[in-house]
Amino acid sequence: MDTSLETRNEPTVDLSPPPPSPPLPTLNAPVTIHADDIERVLISADEIQSKIGEVGARITGDYAGTDLLLIGVLKGAFVFMADLSRRIRLPLEFDFMAVSSYGAATQTSGVVRILKDLEHEIAGRDVLLVEDIIDSGLTLSYLLKNLRTRRPKSLEVCALLKKTGVQQVPLDIRYTCFEIPPEFVVGYGLDYGERFRNLSFVGTLRPEVYGDAVP
Ligand code: IMP
Ligand code: MG
Repeated sequence: MDTSLETRNEPTVDLSPPPPSPPLPTLNAPVTIHADDIERVLISADEIQSKIGEVGARITGDYAGTDLLLIGVLKGAFVFMADLSRRIRLPLEFDFMAVSSYGAATQTSGVVRILKDLEHEIAGRDVLLVEDIIDSGLTLSYLLKNLRTRRPKSLEVCALLKKTGVQQVPLDIRYTCFEIPPEFVVGYGLDYGERFRNLSFVGTLRPEVYGDAVP
């Protein structure tokens, strides 16, 4: 029997390996760039993203039916705010404030200078202030006092990090993602000398990075 016809009609199976897919953009590139500077990863990128998912869902539930305005405190909160806002399934508006505190590089004196004010009026609005880290709490306390004078309908805070036990003023923070020991940390928006903000995790720096400076 001639089987050549059947053989010819069989679908051809391509066993050669698929062409390599183009490399995906990854958040990990800065990790290798700064690998020698990092002492310890305190909160991994996965932990951050998973917590932001939870907090975003809580905010979505709490503010359902409202017209929420997120206010980010520059510069530190920009990375957190970008991710958090995309886990809040509500129509949102955005505004930003930039502040700097007088005093030593990493210690707040409590006197805060507003470098960039809001573009929106917040009277009668539901406002959620998004902060990177609460250390002494003096910056946040000043900001809340300032914003309250503008008569928002509601004013709450969502902070990525809160250092345990070092706040000098009582603060009511509705959403706190992580409590950390009172150490100086960088990454995920937080800087040392304007660097390290683009790390996808939060970590501590090796002492050599500080040189003679006291963090
Ligand atoms: P506070 O007024 O002492 O709460 O300081 C708040 C501000 O200080 C934050 O918004 C940060 O900009 C900065 N800061 C406080 N702790 C750290 C840290 O561990 N790493 C980086 N920046 C910090
Ligand atoms: Mg800040």
